[in-house]
Amino acid sequence: MFRRISAAAMGGLLLVASLTACGGDSGAGGGSDDKIVMGFAQVGAESGWRTANTKSIQEAAKAAGIELKFSDAQQKQENQIKAIRSYITQRVDVIAFSPVVESGWDTVLKEAKDAGIPVILTDRAVDSPDTSLYKTFIGSDFIIEGERAGEWLKKEYEGKPETVNIVELQGTTGAAPANDRKEGFAKVIGTEPKFKVIASQTGDFTRAKGKEVMDAFLKAQPKIDVLYAHNDDMGLGAIEAIEAAGKKPGVDIKIVTVDAVKDGMQALADGKINYIVECSPLLGPQLMDLAKKVVAGETVEQRVLTEETTFTQEQAKAALPNRQY
Ligand code: AHR
Repeated sequence: MFRRISAAAMGGLLLVASLTACGGDSGAGGGSDDKIVMGFAQVGAESGWRTANTKSIQEAAKAAGIELKFSDAQQKQENQIKAIRSYITQRVDVIAFSPVVESGWDTVLKEAKDAGIPVILTDRAVDSPDTSLYKTFIGSDFIIEGERAGEWLKKEYEGKPETVNIVELQGTTGAAPANDRKEGFAKVIGTEPKFKVIASQTGDFTRAKGKEVMDAFLKAQPKIDVLYAHNDDMGLGAIEAIEAAGKKPGVDIKIVTVDAVKDGMQALADGKINYIVECSPLLGPQLMDLAKKVVAGETVEQRVLTEETTFTQEQAKAALPNRQY
């Protein structure tokens, strides 16, 4: 396997010896000897974003000649931990995963480290203070995403003194994007007392939950001016609830979401969503490059930030024909 080969790569002769020795070892990683084997523990298939992210990773692995062992944790941390342990047992060359929640990873990450298997975090961070437990983290700055949503809102209501009642659909409880998007948004709108978050609840990043929770908000709250949804899917579910309640999404209730997947962008172009903060799921190619470097023992940056933008209705209309996800 690659990991052992790279350790031997210091000297030419030693490398040849190591390659030969690895030739008959079919147990490690379960792949052919010259191929890097990556174990990827995905969060689930909760949103359009996640589906696009999975596709990006699978396609990029193929293009990079990396053998991918893929698992879907169905949004459950215990499933992800099981998958990581199984990758350790299979002695893959590198493990990558997008942690469902931020906390509770130290034990399994230590197990990977003790087994000499490098770990790459993608999309979501862990809150472990020991950063030696993983090689790098590639993904968005979710706090900035929340701030961008808040900045749009401030501009939208600039010069209008009336109270703005906001309801918030949070992502999965304990997940980095839920924690950080909430924090970034609260920080920005918190400078103006007219903005009031009157209800905030998790919709678990899914369309079905977004609809269910928005329905409850509409029943409980006599006046809702704005919905801030931590992803497009929850926003799209909420739109269904708003329409079912006889209100016009984007007009009676302004909506700001995060992601910019095709369905969200279409709703923005149609005027049902008012603004979207982009979060790119196309992490596959960069992840494979990082994996190759990490397996080869090269030093990589501890944090690789994804570049993103924001969309108004006009920008969504212009971007939609070429939108990849
Ligand atoms: O971690 C990224 C978030 O997870 C996306 O914004 C959301 O759609 C997904 O479920």
